[in-house]
Amino acid sequence: MVLAVAISTAVCGAPFIAAAGEPVSAAALYAAECAYCHGERGGGNGEAAGMLKPPPTAFSRAEYWKTADRKKMAETVANGKAGTAMMPFGNRLSAEQIASLVEYLASFAK
Ligand code: HEC
Repeated sequence: MVLAVAISTAVCGAPFIAAAGEPVSAAALYAAECAYCHGERGGGNGEAAGMLKPPPTAFSRAEYWKTADRKKMAETVANGKAGTAMMPFGNRLSAEQIASLVEYLASFAK
């Protein structure tokens, strides 16, 4: 147990100690790795968005979630998306981190 806590603290970074059930580490990951394209609140309007074709997906659109497939989303985060600026994160993020990021993206939908 002590080992597991030590490892998760090392992976998540010391300032982000996830409270039970809260997507704190996913939020921190998103802010650090995704927001500059996908936007702070998932609006597809991050700082780099204006330069990208196609533009980053807007996860805040309720419309998006009608057809969204979370398994495919996780695959895209792991492997990137050819022909777009979406890069692969699978070599830096664990499957659990990617799954929690996809859940976090869903929290942007209103
Ligand atoms: C350099 C800019 C950039 C960064 C950084 C980035 N993305 Fe993307 N992302 C894109 C673009 C561009 C697309 C493709 C949009 C399209 O196909 O129309 C995309 C697509 C996606 C998709 C697939 C959407 C779909 O259904 O087709 C997911 C999921 C996603 N990004 C999640 C993330 C997550 C999570 C992160 C952070 C770990 C991240 N992205 C970081 C630019 C970025």
